[in-house]
Amino acid sequence: MAEINFWDAETDDLILTADIRRNDSVMEVAVRAGVEGIIAECGGSMSCGTCHVYAAPEESALFEEKDSSEDEMLAEIENCAANSRLSCQMILVQAEGTANVRVPAAP
Ligand code: FES
Repeated sequence: MAEINFWDAETDDLILTADIRRNDSVMEVAVRAGVEGIIAECGGSMSCGTCHVYAAPEESALFEEKDSSEDEMLAEIENCAANSRLSCQMILVQAEGTANVRVPAAP
């Protein structure tokens, strides 16, 4: 079992820690756990951008890689940065590990 820490991107406070299983998305875990700031309006079809998080590149290795469609959606998000990810596309590919994602304020 792996775990994921959700941090507030503005205050650097830990919001919560949750278990994540292989093939789960970070968005699914966040919604189940009630992480504020991850709304996921489109349910993971990559059309809303309301699941935006920041993830360190080395931790992104725990997840499926970002593809060009995700980059296109991220480009439309106002506070997008080089380490931005759509959490609905962050599918865990490792069985164990700890990841940290930073959650921006809700759009
Ligand atoms: S849930 Fe809509 S883009 Fe991720």
